Amino acid sequence: MIEAKGITIREAAQEEAPAIMALSEASKDELGSISQHRHWLTHQIDIGDVFVAETSEGELVGFVVFNHNPLTDEEHTTIYYLCTDSTYRRHGIGKRLMEAVAVDTRLFGNKRITLKCPPQLPANHFYQSIGYTLEGSETDHEGGRLNVWTLSL
Ligand SMILES: CC(C)(COP(=O)(O)OP(=O)(O)OC[C@H]1O[C@@H](n2cnc3c(N)ncnc32)[C@H](O)[C@@H]1OP(=O)(O)O)[C@@H](O)C(=O)NCCC(=O)NCCS
Repeated sequence: MIEAKGITIREAAQEEAPAIMALSEASKDELGSISQHRHWLTHQIDIGDVFVAETSEGELVGFVVFNHNPLTDEEHTTIYYLCTDSTYRRHGIGKRLMEAVAVDTRLFGNKRITLKCPPQLPANHFYQSIGYTLEGSETDHEGGRLNVWTLSL
């Protein structure tokens, strides 16, 4: 892996919502469209549950949206969206974003991270390579399959 040198991982700011949506639009085949969830994204940024990856030139090249599920007693954090700009992939940025979520999850007091991913996506190799366990698969609301990945902390 070429190291993600000069990349900063930090909480997203509200004015970065358009850049986050532009990144997601460029990967909408894998991610689906986040643009129709603008209000939800705004809320996630407000509560500190969106991290971004920024180059030393100030370019936003990745993001992750998650939630610690504070209203449940399941003690797990859910990752909803993860994306690295296609020209910056395989430089360790996705891994750094996921490590930042793991640190935040431990600080929150949750013991587990879960996420779902369509089985045909290359991202499944990514989750396996960063230590996630494939728990099984389930059917989504449109009848498609989703792999369920978890990380115990
Ligand atoms: C999945 C994604 C976030 C990975 O981001 P990334 O910054 O490229 O990931 P990293 O560079 O940190 O990868 C770490 C390791 O994961 C594995 N990996 C990452 N992408 C992979 C791929 N396409 N195929 C196989 N293994 C992969 C490799 O082992 C890699 O290490 P290496 O480059 O030394 O071999 C990125 O490919 C992406 O944004 N995809 C489109 C959106 C998407 O599918 N999101 C997830 C939806 S569930």
